[in-house]
Amino acid sequence: MKLRCLLLGTLWLCARGFASASERCDDWGVDTMKHKPVYNGEPARIKCPLFEAFLKYNYSTAHSAGLTLIWYWIGRGQDLEEPINFRLPDNHISKEKDTLWFRPALLNDTGNYTCMLRNTTYCSKVAFPLEVVNKDPGSCISQAVKPEEVLLYLSYTNINLTCPDVEGFSPANVQPKFNWFMNCNLVHNFYERRTHGINLTFIIVREMYAADYSCVATYRENGRDFNLTRTFRVKVVAAPYRSTVPQIITPDSRVIYEFKPGVDMSLVCEVHFTFLKDSPQEVWWTIDGRTTDEVTDLKFNVSHTEEPLTVGDVKVTKTLFVSKVTEKDLRRNYTCFAHNNNGTSQMQALVRMKAVVPRYTLELACGLGATVLLVVALTVIYHAYWLELVLFYRAHFGTDETILDGKEYDIYVSYARNAEEEEFVLLTLRGVLENEFGYKLCIFDRDSLPGGIVTDETLGFIQRSRRLLVVLSPNYVLQGTQALLELKAGLEDMASRGTIKVILVQYRAIKKSKVKELRQAKAALSVIKWKGEKSSYPRGRFWKQLLVEMPIKNRPKSTAAADRRTSSFSSLKEV
Ligand SMILES: *[C@@H]1O[C@H](CO)[C@@H](O)[C@H](O)[C@H]1NC(C)=O
Ligand SMILES: *[C@@H]1O[C@H](CO)[C@@H](O)[C@H](O)[C@H]1NC(C)=O
Ligand SMILES: *[C@@H]1O[C@H](CO)[C@@H](O)[C@H](O)[C@H]1NC(C)=O
Ligand SMILES: *[C@@H]1O[C@H](CO)[C@@H](O)[C@H](O)[C@H]1NC(C)=O
Ligand SMILES: *[C@@H]1O[C@H](CO)[C@@H](O)[C@H](O)[C@H]1NC(C)=O
Ligand SMILES: *[C@@H]1O[C@H](CO)[C@@H](O)[C@H](O)[C@H]1NC(C)=O
Ligand SMILES: *[C@@H]1O[C@H](CO)[C@@H](O)[C@H](O)[C@H]1NC(C)=O
Ligand SMILES: *[C@@H]1O[C@H](CO)[C@@H](O)[C@H](O)[C@H]1NC(C)=O
Ligand SMILES: *[C@@H]1O[C@H](CO)[C@@H](O)[C@H](O)[C@H]1NC(C)=O
Ligand SMILES: *[C@@H]1O[C@H](CO)[C@@H](O)[C@H](O)[C@H]1NC(C)=O
Repeated sequence: MKLRCLLLGTLWLCARGFASASERCDDWGVDTMKHKPVYNGEPARIKCPLFEAFLKYNYSTAHSAGLTLIWYWIGRGQDLEEPINFRLPDNHISKEKDTLWFRPALLNDTGNYTCMLRNTTYCSKVAFPLEVVNKDPGSCISQAVKPEEVLLYLSYTNINLTCPDVEGFSPANVQPKFNWFMNCNLVHNFYERRTHGINLTFIIVREMYAADYSCVATYRENGRDFNLTRTFRVKVVAAPYRSTVPQIITPDSRVIYEFKPGVDMSLVCEVHFTFLKDSPQEVWWTIDGRTTDEVTDLKFNVSHTEEPLTVGDVKVTKTLFVSKVTEKDLRRNYTCFAHNNNGTSQMQALVRMKAVVPRYTLELACGLGATVLLVVALTVIYHAYWLELVLFYRAHFGTDETILDGKEYDIYVSYARNAEEEEFVLLTLRGVLENEFGYKLCIFDRDSLPGGIVTDETLGFIQRSRRLLVVLSPNYVLQGTQALLELKAGLEDMASRGTIKVILVQYRAIKKSKVKELRQAKAALSVIKWKGEKSSYPRGRFWKQLLVEMPIKNRPKSTAAADRRTSSFSSLKEV
C-alpha cells in the first residue's frame, strides 16, 4: 500500500512536471492545531499555516521575493494530492492571498489542504485539514464541533462575550445580523443578559447562566445569504479571590484509624479544591516522609478519583491501599499532602493498632477494676472515718432515745475518789460533755443531797441515768470503794433490764484486775482510752468515741424539722 502510494505520488509529480526526482520540499506534515469542523453550507476559510507557524516571513514579503503559493488537496478517502479546481460552475472555492475561501463549504470539500511555497531552488509545504459536517438533526449545532469554553467568575458584572471567529467573513460594508441561542433555543430577551449584535453582555454572572450559547451571523454577499454558526460554552467558576489552599477533609486529626495486623488497610485522603485558573491540583501520600512513587514496595498502591463540584470546585480522592498491614506498617507516618497555587496543606492519618483484647473482656476488666477500686475506697473511708459516719448517721437519722424513758440524767459518772481523777471528771469530762455536747451529768458528790443513805442514793441515781461512765484508774479497783458499788450496780442493771449502758473510759492503765466484774466488763465492752493532753481537744478522737456511746439526743440547734419533732414530742410529754 505504502509502496503504491509512493509510486503513484511520484508518477503524479512527474506527470505534472513540477519537480525533478531530485527536488526536495520541506514537508511540515498536517497541522491539526487549529482544526475545527465547519458546518455544511456555511462559509469557511483556510489560512495557510506556513506564514503563521513555520516560516519567519509573511505572505507579502514572500510574494515580493518571488515565491509562489500553490494549493493542493487530498479528498476524503483519496490517495492522491490533486490541484484545487477554482473554476467549478458554482465557484464556491477561491484563493485570496494566503487564504483559501469556501463560500460555502460543502460536505465533499472535506479533506487535507496543502499549501506549498516555492521558487526554483526552495520549497516548503504544510497541510491543513478541513472537516465539513452537518448539524445534528433537530439541533442548531453538531456534537462533532467542540464548543470553546469560556470561564466567567461568579457574581462578576458587565461581562461582554463576543461571537467568536466571525470577523472578516462579510464584505466590509455589510453588517451581519446576529441571532442568539441558549442551548439551541432562540432567545430574544435574556434575563440579566443583553445582546448587542455581536456581543452578549452578562449584567451579572450567576451559576445558573452556565450554558452553551450559540450565535448565528447572517449576511448577504453577491446576492446569496450566508449563515455562520458559532458556539461557546459558558462555565461559571468561583472568583479568584475566593480561592484558598486545598482543604483536606479526611484524614482528620481528631480521628484515629485502627487496624488489626494482617488486614488490608486503606486510608482515604479527600481534598476540596476551590477553583483556581491554571493551577495544579495535586494530592499525594507520603509514608515516613517518602512519596508513594519513591516507595517501590508492591504492598502499597494508590488510586485516584475526581468529582466536580459546583462553580468549578473539585473533590479529589486519593486512596492509599496497604495490603496485609504488619505491626511495623502501623507504626509508620502516613501523611496526605494537597497542593494548588495558593499553597500546600498536609494532614497525618493517625494510624493505630487495634487492641486484640476482645471488647467484652475489656469492659468486664474495667468494670471489675472499678468495683474493686470502689470497695477499697469505701473500706479506707470507713476505717478512717467510721466514727464520723456513725455520728453523722446518728445526727440525721437516729431517734432521740431520751424522750419518754423516764430518766433524769444522761450519764452517771463513776470514778475513784482521788484528787487527780476528781479533777479529770469535774473539769475535763463535765466541761466537754455538759458544755460542748449538752448532756446532763450526774456526779454523786456534786448532785447528792447531804444526809441521805449513800447506797440507796447511789442506786437511785444510777437507775435514773441512761449511761454509766466508768473512769478506770488503778485507784478505781481498790476493794470496798463506792466506785465498785456503782460499777456492780450498773453492770447488773445492764445485764438484767438493759435500761443502762456501761461505758469504760481508761484514765490510767491498770494491771490485771482482781475484780471479777471489771474483768468481765473489760472483756465484753470496748475501752475508750484517755491519752492525756492529746485527747483533750473536744473535736478529737477520744470525744468522738465517747459520743458514739452516748445517748442520741436531738439538740435544739439542729434543723427546723428536728425542732418541730422535738416540740411535738414536748407537747406530748406535757399531755
Ligand atoms: C510582513 O512583514 C513585513 C516585515 O517583516 C512588514 O513590514 C509587513 O507589514 C508585514 N505584512 C503583513 C500583512 O503583516
Ligand atoms: C460529492 O462527491 C460525490 C462523488 O465523489 C458525488 O457523487 C456527489 O454528487 C458530490 N456531492 C456534491 C454535493 O457535490
Ligand atoms: C488528513 O491527514 C491526517 C494526517 O495524515 C489524516 O489522519 C486524516 O485522515 C486526513 N484527512 C482526510 C480527510 O483525509
Ligand atoms: C528562492 O527563495 C529563497 C528563500 O527566500 C531564496 O534564498 C532564494 O534566493 C530564491 N531563489 C531564487 C532563484 O529566487
Ligand atoms: C460591552 O458591550 C456594550 C455594548 O455592546 C458596551 O456598551 C460596553 O461598554 C461593553 N463593556 C465592556 C466592559 O467592554
Ligand atoms: C462589543 O463589545 C466590545 C467590547 O467588548 C466593544 O468594543 C464593541 O463595540 C461591542 N460591539 C457592539 C456591536 O456593541
Ligand atoms: C440560515 O439560518 C437560518 C436559521 O437560523 C435558516 O432559516 C436559513 O435558511 C439559513 N440560511 C442559509 C443560507 O443556510
Ligand atoms: C489564592 O490565589 C489567588 C490567585 O493567585 C488569589 O487571588 C487569592 O487571594 C489566593 N487566596 C488565598 C487565600 O491566598
Ligand atoms: C509525619 O510526616 C510528615 C511529613 O513528612 C511530617 O510533617 C510530620 O511531622 C510527621 N509526623 C510525625 C508525628 O512525625
Ligand atoms: C491495589 O491493590 C489491591 C489489592 O492488591 C487491589 O485490589 C487494587 O485494585 C489495587 N489498586 C490499584 C489502583 O492498583
